[in-house]
Amino acid sequence: MTFTPQVVNEILRLSNVAPGLLRRSLKEIHANGYTIPAGWTIMLATSAQQLNPNTFKDPLVFNPWRWKELDANIISKNYMPFGGGMRQCAGAESIVRRLWPHFFMW
Ligand code: HEM
Repeated sequence: MTFTPQVVNEILRLSNVAPGLLRRSLKEIHANGYTIPAGWTIMLATSAQQLNPNTFKDPLVFNPWRWKELDANIISKNYMPFGGGMRQCAGAESIVRRLWPHFFMW
């Protein structure tokens, strides 16, 4: 990962546009001893997840260099500024990531 994407990742990690992701359970779900009934709306607090000190050391510090050391597997499970799955942000790869470097050039 070159330095510009590291800076973009760090900005999105610290100041996420979306505070979380919303999903509706289609059937009853059992996870970690909890039961989520069918039809409930679930919010994944991704903005909080991206400040987890167990994943991101000194989470409130702006440190683009951290992305050089982070494992790709850890990133994919703990960093979701554009959501994920079928409803993932349509601008994630094709527009935003290509546009942001141009903003830095201005
Ligand atoms: C930094 C900029 C942006 C961020 C952080 C962002 C983030 C997000 C997030 C978190 C979602 C919900 C994804 C989910 O529920 O899994 C979303 C949905 C979406 N975004 Fe973005 N977005 C950005 C810019 C854009 C841009 C530039 C476009 C289009 C030009 C765009 C188009 C969309 C669309 C169409 C959806 C709905 C996708 C669907 O529900 O199937 N976004 N975005």
